[in-house]
Amino acid sequence: MAKAKTFRRNTAVVTVSDKGAAGEREDRSGAVVSELLEGAGFEILSRRIIPDDRDRLEQLLNELCDECVSLIVTTGGTGISPRDVTPEATMAVIDKEIPGMAEAMRAESLKVTPHAMISRAVCGLKGKSIIINLPGSPKAARECLDVVMPALGHAMDMVAGDASECAQMREKTT
Ligand code: MTE
Repeated sequence: MAKAKTFRRNTAVVTVSDKGAAGEREDRSGAVVSELLEGAGFEILSRRIIPDDRDRLEQLLNELCDECVSLIVTTGGTGISPRDVTPEATMAVIDKEIPGMAEAMRAESLKVTPHAMISRAVCGLKGKSIIINLPGSPKAARECLDVVMPALGHAMDMVAGDASECAQMREKTT
């Protein structure tokens, strides 16, 4: 049981950015998000940069969920530019939305900038994996992660419930 507690903090950080994936822009938001999560005790298992491509993002999110990653944090692609598809890919993958998390991010962010209302970020659950969309700028990603961070531990405890299924899978593969 002690092991399951450790496993549920397994985290993947996915930066969704055409420029980042092409090597034309440094992935500062992925770095900021990873640093904040590590500081809060989350173990970053995987850090990926992919283009704003709905199929590829869906596939990656599904793979990470199948691998029993407990928390998947995406950054970027939540706005309304023609290439922004992160919320659509996330909605296609999740079983349940956690609307309060996205609502809280937008509500708090509106205190900082009216542009916060442009983010269509989605938070939700597939199986025992929580997926959280953050906006793409390092500043925005930090601000939004700070909002949900205090509720993450409890949310992950609730999702884990009996975490044995995922824990057993990990034990087999490690
Ligand atoms: N949220 C916070 N907290 N701080 C910000 O600076 N920027 C907004 C918004 N959310 C911002 C924010 C802006 S300018 C945009 S366009 C949207 O997030 C979407 O960003 P994305 O397309 O990079 O995901």
